[in-house]
Amino acid sequence: MTQALSVGITALGTYVPSKVVTNHDLAQLVETSDEWIVTRTGIRERHFSAEDEFASHMAIHATENMIAKHGSAVLDGVDLVILATSTPDALLPATAAIVQNHFKLKAGAFDVIAACPGWMYALSAAAAYVKSGMAKKVLTIGSDALSKILNWEDRGTLVLFGDGACAAIVEAVPEGYGFKSFVLGADGEGAKHLNMRCINTTLPDGSPLTEKVSMNGREVFKFAVRVMSSATREAVAQAGMRLEEIAYFVPHQANFRIIDAARSSLELPLDKVVSNVERYGNTSAASVGIAMREALDDGRIKDGDDLLLVSFGAGLSWASSVLRWHVKTF
Ligand code: COA
Repeated sequence: MTQALSVGITALGTYVPSKVVTNHDLAQLVETSDEWIVTRTGIRERHFSAEDEFASHMAIHATENMIAKHGSAVLDGVDLVILATSTPDALLPATAAIVQNHFKLKAGAFDVIAACPGWMYALSAAAAYVKSGMAKKVLTIGSDALSKILNWEDRGTLVLFGDGACAAIVEAVPEGYGFKSFVLGADGEGAKHLNMRCINTTLPDGSPLTEKVSMNGREVFKFAVRVMSSATREAVAQAGMRLEEIAYFVPHQANFRIIDAARSSLELPLDKVVSNVERYGNTSAASVGIAMREALDDGRIKDGDDLLLVSFGAGLSWASSVLRWHVKTF
């Protein structure tokens, strides 16, 4: 899918729960060590939501953070809420509708389930709504509380994930700014490698679906390294650009080894890579937004920078995009 759109992100906020869980804390629960986790993943700590804190709460906090950063006018005229999550508060209603109600927005609201790339899928939908004229201003959220669906006895998954949320405004931007390409991909053949049950107990081929997240880490690792670099190349080519023109590579924060393998195959210098996986682990649909916000806050990302966003996850699925950053004053 190629789109040359003058639609982009004009505001961004994030949230992580206050509870920090270190590798040492997890080593009290399962047979693992700080050394193993750091060496294999680059993760040192992550944030876990409180028992009574869910995706909707985190989404609302991320939206409030966006208001604090950009001003209260930021929500004026929002006419659609799209919320990406794999951990919705409920199957009915959509978590997006809970957010809509909290902020009393005169807006439609729906959820997107597309695993870790969910927020990027949501951004692509938001951009298409704005481009088509069906919406003017879309509150586009990624919020996941993966800690709620992990198997606390499975060291292979427990150490990887954390909770968090990001909230962005997608709307028209001046010519030349905004999303320059979107690549969306899925390969349902790989469903067996990363899944969790909901209503059914098996996949169509009879593979069992479990009560909590289950994963074949090695298969996901190989897929991730391959797709991070291929999807990056595709998004850059669709934008009519060269990799050297990308100011910052903002990848899904799943594992620093995956990020670094992709960086190396793309021959990108380390200082162009935004990574904070060390402090948050894999926050699923929130991870690209949280990384991007950090690079904005520390002054790395500036007006006019071309960013390459890329994510992957269950499906198996992936998404990438080139975004020229636009600084808007509300
Ligand atoms: N602590 C200690 N040992 C662990 C462990 C942990 N937390 N998790 C797994 N191990 C063990 C395994 O049981 C295995 O032991 P064995 O050799 O006795 O069977 C050994 O470590 C090596 O396992 P392996 O799976 O080969 O390790 P790895 O180097 O591939 O690292 C992952 C495992 C999960 C970190 C890595 O495969 C990965 O990051 N995969 C991608 C996962 C991902 O990103 N998922 C989210 C997608 S959105």
